[in-house]
Amino acid sequence: MVKIAPSILAADFLNLERDVKLVNDHADLLHFDVMDGCLVPNLSFGFPVLDAVAKVTDIPLDVHLMIVNPDKYIERFAKAGAGLISFHLEAADEAGKDAGEYIALAKSCGVKAGLAIDPDVPVERLFPYIPDVDFFLIMSVFAGFGGQKFIPESIGRIAALRTEMERIGIVKDIEVDGGVSASNAHALVEAGATMLVAGSSVFQAEDPVGAIAKMRL
Ligand code: DX5
Ligand code: ZN
Repeated sequence: MVKIAPSILAADFLNLERDVKLVNDHADLLHFDVMDGCLVPNLSFGFPVLDAVAKVTDIPLDVHLMIVNPDKYIERFAKAGAGLISFHLEAADEAGKDAGEYIALAKSCGVKAGLAIDPDVPVERLFPYIPDVDFFLIMSVFAGFGGQKFIPESIGRIAALRTEMERIGIVKDIEVDGGVSASNAHALVEAGATMLVAGSSVFQAEDPVGAIAKMRL
């Protein structure tokens, strides 16, 4: 069954505890977007917020690192309670490193390791990492901001990744992030997505719990 990961980037920060508790019993993961203003043109939040959120939820924290040099922080996020940590292939490129190093580091810290790409990175670049990674994160908007419009070509990219996994007989989870809602959830799951991140379509909905349920249909 598909896993739903509400993104707290779209929550009401003045009522963060209320919003986290609202989705806690209905979501499978809680998505936590960390932005550094360097890999992406925006800043979000970091350890103090994660520490606070971890106290009021019992579902796994899915930390999405949109930062340069994620290897500096993976261990700290793992210790702070992350269950899954994803980082961008673009960050590895920028550092002149192989993303395999980040994957190995995350795994050695006891978390699930996810490799993410923005919509302009060829999906084939993920193929060499299929054996090592725990999950992939396909951005369906350009990383950096919540509330953007879903890029429909993302569906074909997910299908291509899924097809390659099946071809080599190693199937890993595929998470999709950006502009996800009940209107595209079905097509995404059909294409091979197994984890759906949803920010505004959950937290800005009149009925966040109902919005999560609709994405499972
Ligand atoms: C964007 C973030 C997303 C964001 C999704 O860079 O990675 O996780 O919270 O927000 P929506 O669902 O509103 O597009
Ligand atoms: Zn995200």
